[in-house]
Amino acid sequence: MTRATRVPKLGRMTTPPTHASALVRRAAELRRVLNRAIHAYYVLGAPELSDAEYDRLFRDLQDLEAAHPDLATPDSPTLRVGAEPAESLGKRRHLVPMLSLANAFSDEELLAWEERNARIAPDVRRGGYTVEIKIDGAAVSLTYRDGVLEVGATRGNGVVGEVVTANLRTIPDVPLRLLGEGWPALLEVRGEVYFPRASFDALNRKREAAGEPLFANPRNAAAGSLRQLDSRVTRRRGLRCYAFTVEAPGARLPFTTQGELLEGLAAWGFRVEPHRRRTADLAEARAAVAEIEPLLELLPFGADGVVVKVDALALHDELGAVGGREPRWAIARKFAPEVAVTRLLDIKVNVGRTGALNPFAELEPVEIGGVTVSTATLHNAELIAARDIRVGDWVEVTRAGEVIPQVLGPVRERRTGAEREFTMPERCPDCSSEVERPADEVMTYCPNVSCPGRVLEGIAHFAARGAMDIRGLGYERAAKLLAARLVADVADLYDLTVERLAALEGFAEKSAAQVVAAIAASKDRPLATLLFALGIRHVGEGAAELLARRFGTMDALMQRSADEIGSVRGIGPTIAEAVAGFFRDARNRRLIERLRSAGLGMDEPARTATEGALSGQTFVLTGTLPSLDRAEATRRIEAAGGAVVGSVSKTTTAIIAGEAPGSKLDKARALGIPVWDEAELLRRLGGSA
Ligand code: IVH
Repeated sequence: MTRATRVPKLGRMTTPPTHASALVRRAAELRRVLNRAIHAYYVLGAPELSDAEYDRLFRDLQDLEAAHPDLATPDSPTLRVGAEPAESLGKRRHLVPMLSLANAFSDEELLAWEERNARIAPDVRRGGYTVEIKIDGAAVSLTYRDGVLEVGATRGNGVVGEVVTANLRTIPDVPLRLLGEGWPALLEVRGEVYFPRASFDALNRKREAAGEPLFANPRNAAAGSLRQLDSRVTRRRGLRCYAFTVEAPGARLPFTTQGELLEGLAAWGFRVEPHRRRTADLAEARAAVAEIEPLLELLPFGADGVVVKVDALALHDELGAVGGREPRWAIARKFAPEVAVTRLLDIKVNVGRTGALNPFAELEPVEIGGVTVSTATLHNAELIAARDIRVGDWVEVTRAGEVIPQVLGPVRERRTGAEREFTMPERCPDCSSEVERPADEVMTYCPNVSCPGRVLEGIAHFAARGAMDIRGLGYERAAKLLAARLVADVADLYDLTVERLAALEGFAEKSAAQVVAAIAASKDRPLATLLFALGIRHVGEGAAELLARRFGTMDALMQRSADEIGSVRGIGPTIAEAVAGFFRDARNRRLIERLRSAGLGMDEPARTATEGALSGQTFVLTGTLPSLDRAEATRRIEAAGGAVVGSVSKTTTAIIAGEAPGSKLDKARALGIPVWDEAELLRRLGGSA
């Protein structure tokens, strides 16, 4: 992996070309030969050049680019050695959200998956499947424009990721320029960046010797290495990459099946995991899974299952995604996680920020897969009863990957009769309010919005990284502020002063000043962040992004009904009802007003121009368009970075009018807002629709 950096003192070009055009040609030729050699060596495993030849040509190109900086191009292999450290990682809105995969832990679950799909698209039974290894690394999205790598990003929250282009360029499996033909002008290739086991072990040995903290597993190491500010560090880590899907919104891909797509990716220069198989039906897919399973632990990289995918791409569209999160056309077949047996000492209840009472197990500490576990989630009372879990039981506990440990069930043979059943408390353990259990939910809730348990979780969540990111305000300090009655809700944070904080135990003058400054700095977070930070039931980062993108301002969102909110692609009825319900509550509306008076921004900032053809632009739709329905027009506009809102204002970029437009068109004309027809919209969307 270090070959691109070895720079031996070999002969240079003997007859340097002098004409500008000759130089351009020479540089292009060197780039072509070197990129081809990297592909041959790393992806095909069939070296074309000797190391010495490679190094000499590489040095030639480096010299040429150094002498003529205008010759440098974004696909130059010289970029693979890494660049000067960046100050921070930028953000990138994916053209198409990056989803995650549902799991199947048994063949029965695989069958049930096909059953569910067949109800939507009966053809799945006949269309065949692909079976692929599930690589355990960090998901990445590689955007190519006109065949050249333009942006590489991490998954982030699925909607917005971090830009790590310079880091991804150092990975030899990532083509800087696509090979072959048939690729659309704009596409996002998705794949997994991973740490080969050997490099991971070597890295940890080195870190151990240097007294540095070790990486827990290759996945964390891959994600950490990918997010380095200094791409030269990334290069030295020796990451690799496999590609497995393509998104090209609006464009036509030259494949009709996932199997063809994988071969196509290989033809375009990507490395594709070689154990891939195509099967005629699910029975064959199951047989293939059974053959691959024992290989997983022998692979030179971490694999956490096998992915089964519906082969026909047309069916992917038909099947869609569950809750905008998990495509129905693919499922991860996972294998039994590690299990240990220990004593369940007690079942306690913790109040979450939404008021949900979360029962959890206090366990006699036990080691599972190298980690000591002393608590495990028990989800809800119904599940505890269904699994017949009793306090005092010996229980089986499992831990799969990063997932919170879970209690699987009791070991009944070891019961003594002294075990006791669990009942959900009737009063909240933190504020003694009578608890509620909504008819259609399995969770029990504390209804008191001012419950100290809820408020504490709510403030800690509000201040956390990924939310308002208020440095220095963690769980313990939030608890102190509450206990000292300096705050009763998140809006009170904005009234804190250095003097008041410094009077508390645990806050020196300096740290008090830092926290107050961090609170002030949080006022400028975008709407999506604030929506997530508010801790509205069921609203995660992804949903918050979608809502902020669609509605643009807090006010616009607050006025919407659950139906209107539910019409946003990716927002299901449960989220929509939770959001509308949150804003129906007068206490929450007051909270928003207090946050507004404290100076918090309540708008989603306009997007920057690099992200899509319509970045930062706002549109209103009226009437019936000839070919796109409302949802599709909205999806395409959003995929290109634009937003669709319900009413015309001075800031509307254009109104898109179809047959039988409404009064919005009159208003737009009165305001002098441009009027587009569908054809104009499609033109503007260009390749990025
Ligand atoms: S297909 C969900 N194929 O697993 C969108 N994903 O747990 C389609 N992964 O985010 C993904 N190997 O990063 C697919 N052969 C494979 C994969 C794979 C690893 C990752 C991927 C995804 C995650 C979901």
